[in-house]
Amino acid sequence: MTLFTLGAILCSLLALATALDPIEVKGNKFFRKDGSQFFIKGKQTFSTIEIAKRAKIQIVYHSTCAGISYQLRPNDPLIDTEQCQRDVKLMKELGANALRVYHVDANVDHDGCMKVFADAGIYLLIDLDTFDTYIVPVHNFWTTRHYTKFAEVMDTFAKYDNVLGFFVGNENIASKDDSLVAPYLKAAARDMKAYRDAKGYRAIPIGYSAADIRVGPMLQNYLVCGGNSSESVDFFGLNTYAWCDPGTYTTSGYNDLAEEARNFPVPIFLTETGCNVPGPRQWADMEAVFDEDRMAKDWSGAIMYEWIEEMNHYGIVSYGPPVPKGEPMVDNDIIYDGFTRKGTPTPIHPDFDNLKTRWATLHPTGVSRGDYDPGQVVTPACPTSTQGGWWLVDGNSPLPVLDVIPTRHGAGRVMLQSTGTAAVEGEHVQDSDGGQFVQDVDEDSQAATSYISFSAIVVLGLSFFWGLGGT
Ligand SMILES: *[C@@H]1O[C@H](CO)[C@@H](O)[C@H](O)[C@H]1NC(C)=O
Repeated sequence: MTLFTLGAILCSLLALATALDPIEVKGNKFFRKDGSQFFIKGKQTFSTIEIAKRAKIQIVYHSTCAGISYQLRPNDPLIDTEQCQRDVKLMKELGANALRVYHVDANVDHDGCMKVFADAGIYLLIDLDTFDTYIVPVHNFWTTRHYTKFAEVMDTFAKYDNVLGFFVGNENIASKDDSLVAPYLKAAARDMKAYRDAKGYRAIPIGYSAADIRVGPMLQNYLVCGGNSSESVDFFGLNTYAWCDPGTYTTSGYNDLAEEARNFPVPIFLTETGCNVPGPRQWADMEAVFDEDRMAKDWSGAIMYEWIEEMNHYGIVSYGPPVPKGEPMVDNDIIYDGFTRKGTPTPIHPDFDNLKTRWATLHPTGVSRGDYDPGQVVTPACPTSTQGGWWLVDGNSPLPVLDVIPTRHGAGRVMLQSTGTAAVEGEHVQDSDGGQFVQDVDEDSQAATSYISFSAIVVLGLSFFWGLGGT
C-alpha cells in the first residue's frame, strides 16, 4: 500500500467521522454538539451549519430539517451509493435532515450511502429488526436469534456518526390483543441498550415506532415507566395519519397527542405522517408539530411517509411510470411490484412542492442545551391492564428475560415458560406480493398460518392501500 492510498483511506475515515456530529439526548430533547436543539424536519439549509461550524460560531438558532421514509424496495436502500447520490439532491432541495429506513442488511458495506447522507446533513433512523426478525405479536418472543441479528445491525451501523437512532420494532402492536407483545419490545430495548453500552458504542438512542391505535398513551407510557432508565426506550415514535387536509389541530386529535406527551421523559416524534386523502397533500400538520405553542415544546419533529411513489400513493418522487395494466409484473433490478425503483427521481406535483414550501416556512427555535432543564420531564406511572380493553399488560410486572417463551392459554392469558432455548420459533417467509406470512410453529398454536397486521405491511411500503390512513 502506498502512502498515498493510506492517506486517502485515513482522509475518508476522517471525513466519515467528522462529517456530521452525533445527536445526543437530554431529557425529552435531541441536541446537536453545539448545544442547539435538533428537530427532525426542516428549513435552514445545511450550508449554514457548515459555515457556522467552520467559523466555530455557536448556533443559537437550531437547524431543522425534514424526515423522510426511505425504502425503495423491500431490501436495504443504503447499499446502492449511486442511487443514494441521485436521491440526495432532491432530499436536500426539500430540506431533509433525517431518513427512516425499515430494512437493512448487516452483511453489506454501507460506507458509500452513509457518507452521501452525512455530507448532506442527513441522519438515519434504522430498524434493528427486519422481515425474519420482527417481534411478532402472536408469538411474543424475544430470543437469542432476534438478539444476535439485532446486534449485527447495530455493529454495522454504530460506527456512523449520522445514525440518529435504532428501532426495536415498527407497529408490532397494531390491533386489539397485540398489546401482550409490549413487554418483549421493552425487553428488546433493554437488552440492545445493554449490548450497545457493553460494546462501548456511543449512546445511540434505541426506541420504538408505534401504530396510531387506541393503546397509544398506555404503550407510550409503558415503554418509559418504572423509573429504571436501563429498561426504558430512549425515544418514542408515533406513526399517525390522523390529520388529513383540510384538517385542524382538534379535528385530527393532534391536540390529544400533544397533551399525552406533556413533559414526556424521552424524545417523542412522528415516525410516519402524511395523510394522502383526499389530496393533494397540504402537510398542514407540520405547522402544529413545529409550533412551540402546540407541539414543539415536547415533540422533536416528524418523518413524512414516504419517499417513493408506489401502489399505496404516499410517494413524493417517482422513478418512472408504473408498469402498464395488463403487462406482466416482472421483478428485476429496476422494477419491483409494478414500479420502477431506481434511477433519477422526479418530484410528484404538487405534493413534493407543497411539502418543500411548508417545511421552508417553519422555524421552531427550540431551546439550547444549556438553558434546558431536563428536570421538567415526568416519568409516567406504569399503566395497569384494562380487562377486555386494548391494553392487556400489567405495566408493573418485571420484564421478560431473553428466551423466555410464553404459552398462550385462551385469549389474553399468557404464561411464561422458560426453555433456555430459542428453538421454538415461528418461521417467517415472504410471499410473492411482498406481504409477510408468519408460519406458526408454536407448540400450542391454533392457526397454522396468519398474516401479520396490515399496518406492519403498509410500512414496508409494499402493499395496496386499503383504508384511510394506512394504519
Ligand atoms: C435497572 O435495570 C437493569 C437492567 O434490567 C438492571 O440490571 C438493574 O439492576 C436495574 N436497576 C435497579 C436499581 O433496579
